[in-house]
Amino acid sequence: MGRLDRAERQCVILGVSGGIAAYKACELLRLCTEAGYLVHVVPTAAALRFVGEATWAALSGQPVATEVWDDVHEVPHVRIGRTADLVMVAPATADVMARAANGMADDLLTATLLTARCPVVYAPAMHTEMWEHAATQANVATLRSRGAVVVPPAEGRLTGSDTGTGRLPEPAELFEVARRVLARGTAGLKPDLLGRRVVVSAGGTREHIDPVRFISNRSSGRQGYALARTAAVRGAEVTVIAANVDLPDPAGAKVIKVTSAEELRAAVVDAAAFADAVVMAAAVADFRPAERRDIKIKKTGGEPEPIRLTHNPDVLTELSAHRRRSDQVVVGFAAETHDVIAQGRAKLDRKGCDLLVVNQVGEGLAFESPDNAAVVLSADGSAVEVPLGPKEDLADVLWDLVADRWGATGGADGRRGTN
Ligand code: CTP
Repeated sequence: MGRLDRAERQCVILGVSGGIAAYKACELLRLCTEAGYLVHVVPTAAALRFVGEATWAALSGQPVATEVWDDVHEVPHVRIGRTADLVMVAPATADVMARAANGMADDLLTATLLTARCPVVYAPAMHTEMWEHAATQANVATLRSRGAVVVPPAEGRLTGSDTGTGRLPEPAELFEVARRVLARGTAGLKPDLLGRRVVVSAGGTREHIDPVRFISNRSSGRQGYALARTAAVRGAEVTVIAANVDLPDPAGAKVIKVTSAEELRAAVVDAAAFADAVVMAAAVADFRPAERRDIKIKKTGGEPEPIRLTHNPDVLTELSAHRRRSDQVVVGFAAETHDVIAQGRAKLDRKGCDLLVVNQVGEGLAFESPDNAAVVLSADGSAVEVPLGPKEDLADVLWDLVADRWGATGGADGRRGTN
């Protein structure tokens, strides 16, 4: 996005509450301003103990309101809340979510949250015990039930020597969430996948020949990560099985890293046992070397030895044939270079999945690109064309189609998709 006039720029309120992760909000702020958003930072008093007002003002290029009592004649919380296209609270402490869930308005940020009529995103960060506490979880459920997006914290290093769930996702990923919610507008207010568990495989497997060489493919994992990110924004509990993906973890998703097709199979089958939907976006190698050498293969001067290959398990076919629940939706991807639709239909029948996303691949198409165009084929014979656009757009269409299928089956436990 280039620089836009003030009137055309979307307005983001960045609420910052008092946790050590406040420093990461500086990077999030920079990404938002570079993208052309007009950002007003509303730090709580505790946040200002971690990062001072001057930093927020310099990075946003805007004055920073910290008190309901500043410029009282302008009623700042009402003005700020009304003009916002998005309010994002990052980091959101247990305290700020508790106050927001209870409708308190005892500082500028909570007062702004009460006046805001735009989508609201909370990115909590805190110690694991605080996150897991029943009070925090109840507050998160309340905020979600009112339409807020709560991005679950990531696992990893916390303050001091602690590790666990509670880390603020990487700023680049939070920025993607902000962009996504802004793109969805008021639809971003509907966490329609809440209560659903989804599994997404992403990336490309590596099949080792020896300790330093492998057979792999060009899949970057971007489409799988876009699927994970959009599902998390829409409220789903997301597990990503990531094969050799060199991207920051999608905000709100649990990421399990694997290398080979066999590892990927084990992780996906495990996670699928509890899933409402499994999307196989990973490029899984069909073959692997029959033998993996323990030591590096050396040149001998003679003819190179051929590498004998053997079949890998077909995970998508296995998942489709052995569903752990009758209403589980199984989705495959197909990358084709020619006769795209006919090849896709044949593949959907062969693999037995419910939906198949068919991409045309070739130079400059699909792989490593942030954009994608595809046709989503359904087992009932229908086809939905998704024009070239961000991979998140395709992801949203796919989740809509998955939710439609849940709606049609009603679900084993009586839940229904709300689309
Ligand atoms: N897939 C899988 N396990 C494999 C290979 C592929 O689960 N061993 C999944 C992919 O994740 C993808 C779908 O199957 O969702 C299509 O993969 P693709 O390789 O295009 O299908 P193939 O059956 O291998 O067909 P082709 O003959 O075109 O290679």
